[in-house]
Amino acid sequence: MSEPLRLGIAGLGTVGASLVRVLKEKHNFLAARCGRPIEVVAVSARDRKRKRDCDISGMRWYDDPVELAADSEVDVFVELIGGDDGPADESVRRALESGKHVVTANKALLARHGVELAEMAEEKGLLLNFEAAVAGGIPIIKAMRETLTANTITRVFGILNGTCNYILTRMELEGLGYQECLADAQRLGYAEADPTFDVEGYDTAHKLAILTSLAFGTQIASDKIYVEGISNITPADIQAAADLGYRIKLLGVAQKTDTGIEQRVHPTLVPVDAPIAQIHGVTNAVAIDGDIVGQLVLSGPGAGGMATASAVAGDIADIAKSLPGPQTVPSLGTPAEKLQPYEQARMRAHEGGYFIRLSLNDRAGAFASIASRMAEQDISLQSIVQHRTGQETDDSPETAQPVILVTHRTTESAIRAAFEKIGADGHLAAKPQMIRIEQ
Ligand code: HSE
Repeated sequence: MSEPLRLGIAGLGTVGASLVRVLKEKHNFLAARCGRPIEVVAVSARDRKRKRDCDISGMRWYDDPVELAADSEVDVFVELIGGDDGPADESVRRALESGKHVVTANKALLARHGVELAEMAEEKGLLLNFEAAVAGGIPIIKAMRETLTANTITRVFGILNGTCNYILTRMELEGLGYQECLADAQRLGYAEADPTFDVEGYDTAHKLAILTSLAFGTQIASDKIYVEGISNITPADIQAAADLGYRIKLLGVAQKTDTGIEQRVHPTLVPVDAPIAQIHGVTNAVAIDGDIVGQLVLSGPGAGGMATASAVAGDIADIAKSLPGPQTVPSLGTPAEKLQPYEQARMRAHEGGYFIRLSLNDRAGAFASIASRMAEQDISLQSIVQHRTGQETDDSPETAQPVILVTHRTTESAIRAAFEKIGADGHLAAKPQMIRIEQ
């Protein structure tokens, strides 16, 4: 058997601790598969005294992950700290400068500095592996980086955040409110330290930024992604969508269009019988439209210590198997220096169907006025449903009434123009809800 592969792990939170346990429990199994043992020789975390769910005795301790990254007896630096700057960024750079392969689960770091870090790794013939950064345990990075290389990809989309899917699933199946479901997701350890990242769609946007680069051979521009989260989705939306044969999912979508690459994250109505609609709870799914393969849908656990540790361990094992020898796999599928800048399609040019929930002052002409504002923008309506509340009396005939509209394919700019006019007409009792439909 060859020399051991020596790891330094920075970050011993849920994922780090799970990884240490997995590497210990599967030591012999992995050694047999990789042709060399994998040893954790050094670790770093914020608080040395903290009680943690893994045994780190016999491992060198570093308070500073950047020092760990420069340890000459470490072959692979595993970054599980998180964050797009600071210690995570500094330590990954130091590791690459010191000639170490890097494995990271850090989507925020890659979304911001991924191309630069990939260039550094490739210049030095090192591997920068990040399977765990997108969709937890689903092997989507390797599939896109290597297996699908011959395909021209036209669209990649998916449920990329377990917390949001968990919340939406429970709201739908149990009729619960948003806050209650969020609290449970946090208690179960699915949500990020700051749940805003999950529920407002930024976590999905970081992952989508990485998938876009892999799909289209482009540079990464995560700050330009259109992002809307799920915090304003109500049980009324979920119920109305269900009545019309849809489920609401937070999707990240990257798609080639005539005006550039569309990159968007938002709650989306998907037909209840679509494969993506069958993805429940913390599970993630990624769908890829390729010209040779057709549509591929991969699903699996997208969050949680063990699922993420599975992906990190796989990345480490890949390095263990490939050593020694030249490292020739570009981190982002295309050599980093060849990744192209790209034109991003404007959100206003987006085309699709729309679900609109209005709260309408129930008076003569209100309905006709809405329909005519839609017609002015050439928006054709596929269905109109008015749920009467039955609360109005002769004394107060203006009780607000929920009205649900579903449009045929139209443009975002037409919808926004119609909304402006409808708002000014004074028939709305509350802010309208608009959710895009993905077929
Ligand atoms: N917080 C993320 C999620 C997991 O809920 O999917 C890590 O990306």
